[in-house]
Amino acid sequence: MLRKLLAILSAFLCFGLANQGHAEDGYDLWLRYQPLESAAKARAAPWVTAMIASTSSPTIGVALEELQRGVQGMLGAPLARREGVQDGAVLLTSAGSPLLQGLDLPFAKLGEEGYLIRSATVQGKRVTVIAGNRDIGVLYGVFRFLKLLQTGQPIDNLDLTDAPKLKVRVLNHWDNLNRHVERGYSGLSIWDWQKLPGFRDPRYTDYARANASIGINGTVLTNVNANADILRPDYLQKVKALAEIFRPYGIKVYLTARFSAPIELGKLKTADPLDPEVRAWWKAKIDEIYTVIPDFGGLLVKANSEGQPGPADYKRSHAEGANMLADALAPHHGIVMWRAFVYAAENAEDRHKQAYSEFQPLDGRFRDNVLVQVKNGAIDFQPREPFHPLFGAMPKTPLMMEFQITKEYLGFATHLAYLGTMWEEALQADTFRPNKGSTVARVIETPVDADAATGMAGVANIGSDRNWSGSQFDQANWYAFGRFAWDPGAKAEPIARDWAAMTWGNDPAVIAPVVRMMLGSREAVVDYMTPLGLTHQMATGHHYGPGPWVSDLARPEWNPVYYAKAAPDGIGFDRTAKGSDALSQYAPALVKSWGSLKSVPDELLLWFHHVPWDYRMKSGRTLWDALVIHYDTGIDKVRGMQADWAGLRGKVDAQRWAEVRDFLAIQLAEAIWWRDASIAWFQSISKRPLPEGHKPPAHDLDYYKAITMPYAPGWGE
Ligand code: GCU
Repeated sequence: MLRKLLAILSAFLCFGLANQGHAEDGYDLWLRYQPLESAAKARAAPWVTAMIASTSSPTIGVALEELQRGVQGMLGAPLARREGVQDGAVLLTSAGSPLLQGLDLPFAKLGEEGYLIRSATVQGKRVTVIAGNRDIGVLYGVFRFLKLLQTGQPIDNLDLTDAPKLKVRVLNHWDNLNRHVERGYSGLSIWDWQKLPGFRDPRYTDYARANASIGINGTVLTNVNANADILRPDYLQKVKALAEIFRPYGIKVYLTARFSAPIELGKLKTADPLDPEVRAWWKAKIDEIYTVIPDFGGLLVKANSEGQPGPADYKRSHAEGANMLADALAPHHGIVMWRAFVYAAENAEDRHKQAYSEFQPLDGRFRDNVLVQVKNGAIDFQPREPFHPLFGAMPKTPLMMEFQITKEYLGFATHLAYLGTMWEEALQADTFRPNKGSTVARVIETPVDADAATGMAGVANIGSDRNWSGSQFDQANWYAFGRFAWDPGAKAEPIARDWAAMTWGNDPAVIAPVVRMMLGSREAVVDYMTPLGLTHQMATGHHYGPGPWVSDLARPEWNPVYYAKAAPDGIGFDRTAKGSDALSQYAPALVKSWGSLKSVPDELLLWFHHVPWDYRMKSGRTLWDALVIHYDTGIDKVRGMQADWAGLRGKVDAQRWAEVRDFLAIQLAEAIWWRDASIAWFQSISKRPLPEGHKPPAHDLDYYKAITMPYAPGWGE
């Protein structure tokens, strides 16, 4: 009897599992290497019979390991390493290998990090060659080859080449030494400083694998709001341990430099960048770093912004500050990434204008090994901003892009928002400098002179959570960042497709709804948070939930009311010549189109203009009605995502499916909160009725104002 019962129970369990896939928690990211379906397996198997490496190095070692892991997972058979060439072998090799004699391969196109994948005949055998000028190219090629398998592409007739368009492709971890992550929504910092260097968590290796799989070649380990202690000798030993783990994966480590470190660590009286003792202190410190970590990447600096120390404390310019560090790094081939995210409390100028005002006049004044790191927009990683006016305006200075992968202003981890579309929009924006067609992507990928650096930084969303990014879908933003850093001209849609196939399963019935959800998701957030060019309406310092009424923070530009300028006469920030004139920082063609109410796109209307509540939109509706409709549209879009996701029940594994379902329910509740609170506030000023068919907020304004969230994650220490 008992046996019978057990048999029934186990049959039931097996059915359940087969139906829902085995439980997954998201740890494997897009590198799941799930078994291919049998026809795909049969097609691929003759082309992966063995692996051969013509050279050996730590990087080739990890490339072989990854190939083996991937093929074992997807084809269910171990992949042996062989010495002799055989049919179906995958051959990892580099330029100049005698095995490649007679093959005309385009190594010249590959640069230092590119790769080629070619189906070829070597010693009379049909093989797949994966090769680069350097071993790192081979590793990137292996990841690409595995992606072909993961996404169901044929591998029997390959002829591919690819190379990154940017040199520096880095994550910026805003991680503090106490493991609190500023704007982090996925647990603690993954850097467990207390246990380093003694304990090398295997997770660090998986972190490196994931980054290498998308071409990221550097990581800044520490917060831009920097702590000088990271430069202490004992901490450098910890950094060294991480550098050793990352090195085979082509990932360099970088640190943030606190500008006042010579005072705090060196006990000097000043941190003036022109002071000889200060210069000597930095030179000695940087030499010391390189004795510990010979391939250290360099320093990232936030100076004279939001209370951080910097050269202006000594009446020196950003260039003088950056150049001092650059001079000390240059002999070691290190770089300085100097952030242009600056604004000052004492400065009454529109915050939009301040970075441009300070940096543009310094064009051409930075050393060759300095990159000025510019956020995508002039304010701060909002759900939508026009591109930063510095792009295109500093032709003699390498500018690198800074995107925020973590979703500080897009609902934290629980709101599904794929940022690929936002980044594509920013990168495809035309700066008109020097002429039409000079997109932001072109500006950042065109070196200012032959050897000049180029780059992109992404503020990481990675933490100690099992799923790394705080939510399953936020992994897509890490993934997409790598792809855009590799190719700023990339498109969000194919990136979403690749990610969806690798992360959720290569079934068109899964990919289509997942991609649809992703592509519409960012606009949904814009709609229910800050439509029509509104910006920075998030509650106080933690930025969680709506706070459009907040007006009591110490600095004017920290208050949402500063940005919306809602008043009885209308709403929006006049940045035309009649207002703050921030618009004049853009090229004349944009001044013309964005400056006119006739041609400014709806989505930037209130960013550049203050308009009456009854202003007639292109749709014929009043501005007030259009605003309300946008909030409701955002909610409808979240409901649409829920419906798509509901249809995937049983088509993806149960554990991740349930997590996404629950997060979408949180997102819906919070979208409604955003909508209701915003409408309650703006209606108290506009005094207009809601358009027909649109419900009043569930509660009165005081209810929304009374909501507090003192322990929102990512804020405080
Ligand atoms: C935002 C963010 C801060 C961060 C800053 C920066 O203002 O809220 O936490 O330090 O950006 O980029 O430096």
